[in-house]
Amino acid sequence: MTEAADTSRSLCVEANEQAIEQAAVHIREGRLVAFPTETVYGLGADATDPHAVARIFETKGRPRLDPLIVHVANIVAAKQFTTHWPALADQLAQTFWPGPLTMIMPRTSAIPDIVTGGLADVGLRVPAHPVARRLIETAQRPIAAPSANRFGRISPTRAEHVLAELGDAPDLAMVLDGGACERGVESTVVRLVSSPEPSIEVLRLGGIPLEQLERLAPVRVIRSNVDDNTQAAQASPGTLSRHYAPGTPLVVAADVAALVQSLHDAEESAALGLLCLNRQACGEARLDRAGLSVCELSPRGDLVEAAGQLFQTMRTMDAMGLTRIIALAVPERGLGRAINDRLMRASRP
Ligand code: TXA
Ligand code: MG
Repeated sequence: MTEAADTSRSLCVEANEQAIEQAAVHIREGRLVAFPTETVYGLGADATDPHAVARIFETKGRPRLDPLIVHVANIVAAKQFTTHWPALADQLAQTFWPGPLTMIMPRTSAIPDIVTGGLADVGLRVPAHPVARRLIETAQRPIAAPSANRFGRISPTRAEHVLAELGDAPDLAMVLDGGACERGVESTVVRLVSSPEPSIEVLRLGGIPLEQLERLAPVRVIRSNVDDNTQAAQASPGTLSRHYAPGTPLVVAADVAALVQSLHDAEESAALGLLCLNRQACGEARLDRAGLSVCELSPRGDLVEAAGQLFQTMRTMDAMGLTRIIALAVPERGLGRAINDRLMRASRP
């Protein structure tokens, strides 16, 4: 056993009450703690402590201009950090919090510049995971936390992934192991627009499907996020086009015809991986091709289950020594939109 592996092991602790209390002390004293949320594991620090927050950027290798989400315990706490709380914010919060929704709101001076990359707005979210909630309550601090991966890499959905990404990071004091994250894709990031009528702009597709937001107000997706357009880059600097990337080249097949073509065009000697919702979704594509490994996100074709499996499956496939991963886009509805968004970003060179 190497020393590094030893250190990693003691870093990672089952998230029981005692461990959460210890983690809360780390947060209050300015150190970093990785913790589970219902979406992905976060790399947390006291959001009111600029030095602690700086360690997040260093540890991730993340550009300073890329703002962090601040995690709070409830609506009352969220209101302490924003100067504006319109009726629509209240409706969204009542409907989706605790849960995978981040609202970009005008911040108060309690949130230091470094958290938002100098932007006037802060991203606020009340996570649903019991460990995340308990940690925030025990630390009695708002917790700034990006996904606990190195910048540009696949978000971690298990404590093991955090260790693989950041196990050797000197400023990481503890990893709270709360098992696998259920939702599996990051929170939906929204901005509220007041005129001509109250409406919602989606800056990042995520764990709350559009269909559910649309029940409350008109929704516009800032699509250009995926296309690296400057307007979107300004709206949400973190939505860079390449993200969530495995080391293995990944291409997306938009439909079965494109999949059939990619399999046909591939060199005979290639070790190919096919990432798909399930075998049935692959239609007439030849899945018995020599050297093809098929990985299903949900054999029964459930998009919620598929979202939960996405990043873990990408990591597993990345370790298979494949020449290339071909990902078949999933149906563009419900969590399928967020899955396709992550696949597209993973495919950018
Ligand atoms: O589910 C999640 O959101 C996870 C868990 C840990 O909560 N967190 C997460 O954080 O995915 P991160 O840092 O990997 O992604 C945050 C996204 C980025 O795209 C960032 O640009 C956007 O939210 N964001 C955060 N604050 C913002 C702000 N003030 N204005 C615009 N966009 C913001
Ligand atoms: Mg991230």
